[in-house]
Amino acid sequence: MRRFVVVGHRAITSSKFNLNDLCGATGRLDVLLRCINSAFFLSHDIRRDVELYLILQGEPEPPKTIRLVGDELKYLNPDERSTAALIRNALIKKIGKDEEMSTPGIYISKNGLEEVIKGLAKNSTLVYLREDGGIFEPTEKEQDYTFILSDDKDMDEKEEALLKVYEPEIVSLGSISYHSDHCIVIVNNLMDRFSNNSR
Ligand SMILES: C[S@@+](CC[C@H](N)C(=O)[O-])C[C@H]1O[C@@H](n2cnc3c(N)ncnc32)[C@H](O)[C@@H]1O
Repeated sequence: MRRFVVVGHRAITSSKFNLNDLCGATGRLDVLLRCINSAFFLSHDIRRDVELYLILQGEPEPPKTIRLVGDELKYLNPDERSTAALIRNALIKKIGKDEEMSTPGIYISKNGLEEVIKGLAKNSTLVYLREDGGIFEPTEKEQDYTFILSDDKDMDEKEEALLKVYEPEIVSLGSISYHSDHCIVIVNNLMDRFSNNSR
């Protein structure tokens, strides 16, 4: 399994946003929507072995986590607007302490970064993507990897400290700072080539 965790520092936690103004008043939810596209879409297919966690930390009810599961996803299309509508449906849901399904393959919970990382650390190798990290060399083909990255803002000191507790490998994709969704494309390609032995 390949997993991605993206922290949306200001991403809106209410369903009250306009689908025609996604990068205006949504706390850059548009960045996270593009991450969904990059995580799942292939030409004429969807990646079934990918899971994506979007950590929404914006107002009015932070945090919320939206989890997308590749082999369960339905109704996902490549355009940002229709994906935003799916996320909005998830945000409409009243959530208690348990995760709830919104539409097939899309789940929402009140979890934040700490709960998500703590849960994943049990069974997955954590890889934190940072421009100043080391070179990534995947070892085991069947290994479960979780790639952690940030939105248009870097992780703050508190998040850095939280991640440090779980001792992720800190990995760079090169010294150039890329958009988050582009990092996901690069990692998907890197892992595809590693898994298929094709260079
Ligand atoms: C747009 S960047 C964050 C802001 C950026 N550091 C800046 O200068 O404003 C989004 C995230 O993608 C990841 N990222 C971007 N470029 C990377 C690279 N070359 N290597 C590893 N991770 C990268 C990091 O997690 C980063 O926080």
